[in-house]
Amino acid sequence: MTDYIKKLPKSELHVHLEGTFEPKQVFEFSKKNNISLPYKTTEDLKAAYKFDCLQSFLDIYYLSMSVLITEQDFFELTMSYLKKARENNVVHVDLFFDPQAHTARGIKVATFMNGISKACIEHKKRYGLSYNLIPCFLRHLSEKSGIKIFKELKPFSNAITGFGLDSGEKNNPPKKFKHLFQMVKEKGYRCVSHAGEEAGPQNIWDSLNLLNSERIDHGISLIDDPKLLSYLREKNIPLTMCPLSNLSLKVLDNLSDYPFRELLKLGVMITINSDDPAYFGGYLNDNLIRLAKDAHLTKNEIKKTVINGFKGAFLPDEKIDYWIRKINEIEQ
Ligand code: ADE
Ligand code: ZN
Repeated sequence: MTDYIKKLPKSELHVHLEGTFEPKQVFEFSKKNNISLPYKTTEDLKAAYKFDCLQSFLDIYYLSMSVLITEQDFFELTMSYLKKARENNVVHVDLFFDPQAHTARGIKVATFMNGISKACIEHKKRYGLSYNLIPCFLRHLSEKSGIKIFKELKPFSNAITGFGLDSGEKNNPPKKFKHLFQMVKEKGYRCVSHAGEEAGPQNIWDSLNLLNSERIDHGISLIDDPKLLSYLREKNIPLTMCPLSNLSLKVLDNLSDYPFRELLKLGVMITINSDDPAYFGGYLNDNLIRLAKDAHLTKNEIKKTVINGFKGAFLPDEKIDYWIRKINEIEQ
């Protein structure tokens, strides 16, 4: 199974660039930029990666990214992730990042947009990796703040495919961002949002109906609403699930309790992703390997999730068909 997973060309639809910031690199940048962190060593920082909920992770995640200052920092972080992606045989990525978390610290939009874009362009040239950039609005901030950053990103509109919604889900329901996502849609961007990670199925419904979400990031709580399950299945709405994230943040106690297999059998469009791999113990292959083992997925079922990853990507049909053909050529 492990070899099969490694050999498959894969897409990744739910990975936060700042969540790929490895502790060693966090410390290098903190020294270089002379920004002190409340941890003395890489080991101390790693030891703090014991989360009991989403918020406990977000606190460390925002703290660590505070050492990202220059365009070169964003370039190097992106290059490091893209190298990892290549090692995992990821051939396409819809890459998330959090603009407001950087502008709030006085970083200019051009600094991170140029750093991230240049690294992606270089990887595309060198290795043929395809990518889309998807800035996410922080849901713990106001809709007004979201509208402000949306306007500030306008000069970079050609580099952006769509927008997402992330950060703390509790007490920050989709309806808070209805007008913002209306603007996003009107400008012709793709829309996705985190929902049903730490809150119930109503957030999934509202993401679809109020925010025009074309994919749901996580969507774990869909199983509490049979009508929603049927709707997601009928409409073929991709769910970008992240098994190691769910375990780390105690969204799931174990993968064997969640009906991954049953949902796949029903035709629900599950895709597998790494979310914040530097924090949750593994990149894309690790997520697939752990899922296959704990949730007892067959090679065919793993293949289905990987094919779904391409079907759900913001890619032209010819490219999707090309990668599905390549996947079908891999011997099981
Ligand atoms: N930002 C980064 N990772 C996240 C997650 N798993 N949920 C919500 N916001 C996030
Ligand atoms: Zn996420």
